[in-house]
Amino acid sequence: MPASLHIRVQPMVYLFKSASNLPLPSSPPTWRLGGHFLPHRKPFLVIARWIDEYGPVITIRSGFEKIVYIGRYKAAVDIMEHQGKSVADRPPWISLGIASGGMGFGSAPFGDRLNRMRRALHSHLQPKAAEAYQPLQMSHVKNIVIGILDDPHNLQRHVVTYAATTIMKVAYGKNTPTFATDPEMVEVNQFLKMARALQRPGAYLVDSIPWLKYFPWYGPDLKLNFERSKKLHTSDLNRVKEQMRNNEDIGPSFTKYMLENSHLYGFTETEMAFLAGVFLQAGSQTVRCYLVVSEDIRMFPEEQAKVQAEFDAIIGRHRAPTFADQNSLPRLQAFISEALRWRPPVPDALAHRTIKDVIWENYCIPAGTTVYGNVWSISQDPDVFPEPDAFKPQRWIDGQGNLRDDIKLFVFGFGRRVCPGQHVANRSVFITALLVLWVFRLILDPTKPLEDMGFMGGSMLDSRPCEFEFEKRIPEKELRRMMQGYPEVA
Ligand code: HEM
Repeated sequence: MPASLHIRVQPMVYLFKSASNLPLPSSPPTWRLGGHFLPHRKPFLVIARWIDEYGPVITIRSGFEKIVYIGRYKAAVDIMEHQGKSVADRPPWISLGIASGGMGFGSAPFGDRLNRMRRALHSHLQPKAAEAYQPLQMSHVKNIVIGILDDPHNLQRHVVTYAATTIMKVAYGKNTPTFATDPEMVEVNQFLKMARALQRPGAYLVDSIPWLKYFPWYGPDLKLNFERSKKLHTSDLNRVKEQMRNNEDIGPSFTKYMLENSHLYGFTETEMAFLAGVFLQAGSQTVRCYLVVSEDIRMFPEEQAKVQAEFDAIIGRHRAPTFADQNSLPRLQAFISEALRWRPPVPDALAHRTIKDVIWENYCIPAGTTVYGNVWSISQDPDVFPEPDAFKPQRWIDGQGNLRDDIKLFVFGFGRRVCPGQHVANRSVFITALLVLWVFRLILDPTKPLEDMGFMGGSMLDSRPCEFEFEKRIPEKELRRMMQGYPEVA
């Protein structure tokens, strides 16, 4: 290595030293002035390689900024969970702040406003509330089955309609179906795409030169994004307001609750409108989770057969299963957990930021450092998940045949910023997998291309169409009859 390059690397290591005099976690060497190179597509794979080589927690550089990646289970628990409060902030994401008018939930800085937002969402997403949505989820999930019977080549579309329709009911009390092609869904998908792009380090010049944001002419596309999302979310909120004013019987919804209880949270109407908009944006994650599970179902026919053998033993084929069967179906739950471990739908989660110095082993992550839990690498930790490349649902089941509760997935993120929608999302993925798999055998067509990482990252509308083949396990006539009354006469 030329001596001049050594000179450039040394000060970088020195700068990484913290006030506690402990160094930052080790860093893969780089001689690029801009810092370590991460590809736009599947950057988590590169991080995983560095984790394997340089240790469970590593530091990389993006320009002058240092970014820490956590890639092993124990380190994630120690840092993101046990020291969760110290890692509960988000990076400044200045361009994203302009594009969301500072209204974004996921990008909100740690503090009172975030706590109020989380408290407000909790009212409609906590486990008790999530349980109350089960009848709603069941009454819509049957439409996926009917959709497959009528049009077997569009699983993705049926699942998006299911997710969007249930989430619109919870958020706004909307009783009519919402489709992927509805202008509202298309627009939300564009917001999501933009938000994801803006989370990349240095996405816009303003992220490196913050004072640019004070120029009124700067970032017209970012400002337009805010105006359009404001218009969308405000018109959804206003519709509910109007219905309330007209005393229409719209049933409960998050927006109605917020309008009636605004004094408890102290939000403006625009803030409430954006908060309700979270539901719509988050529905796409649920779709992705389910598609990951479906992809694995058809890829591993022997495991699929084991789950269906459990169905035949516990439920039989003459009544459709419901949430009431959940505790008797450990194999299905284990399959879902393994699918989400093997191909996590959000492999690099969202960036956190340290509020104060975090000491871990002989390292210090100084206050103000961006920290990622790399869900992909953590899920591949060989100490916790032996033979991590292998798809083994059995690893989630203990010697007595029960689901293990001593290991967890980080699919929903970490610590104080863990996904508030996880209880609703988990139930949604479960009931979809349960009903579809009880009705159909999913078949892999060896002539069609298979990209097992196809549903990781990205959004529900821009992942490729999936070519699933279905074989009915129940005679169609009987099935249609059962679905008609489902879930009441399940
Ligand atoms: C299976 C579906 C879902 C997955 C895989 C998922 C995953 C995630 C992940 C990985 C994070 C980042 C956590 C972190 O920073 O450590 C997150 C944050 C978040 N999720 Fe979800 N999510 C899902 C569904 C939902 C649903 C249904 C909602 C609401 C209706 C929701 C609302 C949120 C919000 C508001 C945040 C930001 C939390 C914060 O910054 O404090 N998510 N989600």
